[in-house]
Amino acid sequence: MAIVAPSLLAADFLHLADACTLINESQADWFHLDIMDGRFVPNISFGMSIVQQIKSVAQKPCDVHLMIEEPGKYAADFAKAGADHLIVHYEACPHLHRNIQQIKDLGMKAGVAINPHTAVESLLDVLQDLDIVLIMSVNPGFGGQSFIQHTYYKIKKMRQLIHGLGLHTIIAVDGGVTLENAPSVVNAGADSLIAGSTVFHAPDPKDVIKKLKGM
Ligand code: DX5
Ligand code: ZN
Repeated sequence: MAIVAPSLLAADFLHLADACTLINESQADWFHLDIMDGRFVPNISFGMSIVQQIKSVAQKPCDVHLMIEEPGKYAADFAKAGADHLIVHYEACPHLHRNIQQIKDLGMKAGVAINPHTAVESLLDVLQDLDIVLIMSVNPGFGGQSFIQHTYYKIKKMRQLIHGLGLHTIIAVDGGVTLENAPSVVNAGADSLIAGSTVFHAPDPKDVIKKLKGM
């Protein structure tokens, strides 16, 4: 059974409470919240106050994906807002080890995301410190993009690395996940499926979540 994390980026922001209720009532495991700063990625989404409001109604862990520069400056604020998992980008962190320790010291699960061009081996020396690795299967910044095929190779390689080290780090895959490609994503070694458009643009989001869950 896959871990399913619907991304609220694709939800109707005028009815965010309904989207939260939908996730609570569905078989989804985590809320996935995409934070964009207009610098690390060419788009701006939402910040701590929205995370805090979502957290106030969320009955499942909040998986907060920071697509921002200098994430260390804001880690404590996101912890306060209620993030359960904090994911920072490898490409935004020259002092990645320090960022990971900070996240754990703040009481959150620590994750690192890698862009499509970043080799999975880049995380070799921090894997033992991580709860989650997030493999981007699109270039971060926008929902609704197409899954990059080379990602399958990266998921397999990451699975081998984690297995080889005897770790239990969760592999999350984010971007362009559909009902069609989800079985292959899971077969390649993904534990967690993050999906925005596939869930929220569907006529029956709960049914899509149920199907992704069964992958
Ligand atoms: C992209 C975000 C994703 C995005 C996924 O930068 O990190 O979480 O919301 O959206 P879909 O599933 O539509 O590709
Ligand atoms: Zn994301």
